[in-house]
Amino acid sequence: MIDYKLRQQGRAALDFLAAFGAVSGPFMKAQNDALAKAGLDRDENLADDLDERAQQIEGVLENVPAFRATGLMNEWHAEHHARIAADAFAQIEADIKPTFEKLKQGRTTLQVDPNLTPDKYWLYPVHRTTGGWDGHPHMGFVHGELVHRYVVGKSPRPPAAGGIASDIYATRKQFAEEAPRRDYEKILEIGCSSGPYTGKLAEVFPQAEIHACDISVAQLEQAQRNGNALGHAWKLFQADGRDTKQPAESYDLVTSFIILHELPVDVIGDILRESYRILKPGGDLLFGDVAPYSAMNKMNAWRTDYLAKFGGEPFWRGSSTMDMLGLMKKIGFTDVKYYGMKPLNYPWVTYGRKP
Ligand SMILES: C[S@@+](CC[C@H](N)C(=O)[O-])C[C@H]1O[C@@H](n2cnc3c(N)ncnc32)[C@H](O)[C@@H]1O
Repeated sequence: MIDYKLRQQGRAALDFLAAFGAVSGPFMKAQNDALAKAGLDRDENLADDLDERAQQIEGVLENVPAFRATGLMNEWHAEHHARIAADAFAQIEADIKPTFEKLKQGRTTLQVDPNLTPDKYWLYPVHRTTGGWDGHPHMGFVHGELVHRYVVGKSPRPPAAGGIASDIYATRKQFAEEAPRRDYEKILEIGCSSGPYTGKLAEVFPQAEIHACDISVAQLEQAQRNGNALGHAWKLFQADGRDTKQPAESYDLVTSFIILHELPVDVIGDILRESYRILKPGGDLLFGDVAPYSAMNKMNAWRTDYLAKFGGEPFWRGSSTMDMLGLMKKIGFTDVKYYGMKPLNYPWVTYGRKP
């Protein structure tokens, strides 16, 4: 983790963001009461079709002031969080530059591909962030450190339950431990962003050579700083996971954490096919993400779908309703498993072995 000190104004604004999420709780009761009164708290009364279901539920809720209030709060948070984080960064940019320079040095290397043209889907303002993953020259720090580690990490979370820690990064470690082997020599992470899962891979597989790719240079630069701050020797490279330019049959494990819900279904298919190509025979694929809608009751599936809109997540529904099991088998993976980790069904695990 990188050492930095926020200025008072930036820290107060980020602390406000972190506390903001907690206040929506009491508003839920009024919404749930209205839904129960309309008989919509029971699955059998809700439509199978997601759009029809949304009309049913939102038709009732639009008359509930608490629903409109939470909508406004969600909207404000979605619109402002990245700007607040970018402002907090601007206040410390001059102080932190020497640390950035220092952390370019070390055993974690970064190879940028000047010929890579990102696909249109990737340029979408994901998370409602202007410009998406590279929308700020230091989006890796702004998103990875300030929004994720600081704000999300500080936001009130459900207490640790049944073995799943409430700490966002501990969950990544528990997920990496789902891999069936510990003796991998070479691992590739696809969509590493600023490297929080990469760090957990290094803890779980200390003997392995760790490679990680992403399309975003700003995210990879922050991953390099994190790798060097921790003394790791990761090989980071800019690449689209659909065309990694790595030799066939070169990895023992290809893995990712929470990238699937940010990808169109055809891109997911292409990444899984590329993963199959670069895996050694007997190698494992392990992808972790959010639960599919089929694992939820209809109300929770609606709520997830509804919140994805505020979150600037246009591909969430597609990835949450696709036939992942069928696709994995069609590509050629064996021993395919598709399941939620207990007790929260998060992360949801997609696993397969290349025969
Ligand atoms: C939610 S983040 C990943 C989070 C990270 N793995 C972690 O543990 O927090 C999604 C990342 O996937 C990357 N990405 C999206 N499409 C990609 C693709 N086709 N190839 C490689 N990376 C991609 C984005 O640039 C972004 O950094």
